[in-house]
Amino acid sequence: IKITIIDREGVAHAIDAPTDMNMNLMEIVRSYELAPEGTIGICGGMAMCASCQCYVESDHQLPEVTDDEDAMLAEAFNVKDNSRLGCQIQMRPEMDGLIVELAPEA
Ligand code: FES
Repeated sequence: IKITIIDREGVAHAIDAPTDMNMNLMEIVRSYELAPEGTIGICGGMAMCASCQCYVESDHQLPEVTDDEDAMLAEAFNVKDNSRLGCQIQMRPEMDGLIVELAPEA
């Protein structure tokens, strides 16, 4: 699928995201090196660091926020109504066209 990720400098990257490799959005950002090493995915995708926070800018139906994600976002900085943890969003075919912006480094 094609998705757009706006990096922390405000640059939009249109990229191909595989849906058959069990990757989440944080892992996609890392694999395309859209954020400096060590600034995203710090907890390894356990919903315990919020370094993968992003703002969902398109109106895609995404998986429900889990209790763990909700609790982490409640403690995170720069949280907005459209904040999600990238590590909790597995890439799925219906997310084609998704647009997300990386939250600032906290
Ligand atoms: Fe730590 Fe997502 S990688 S909360």
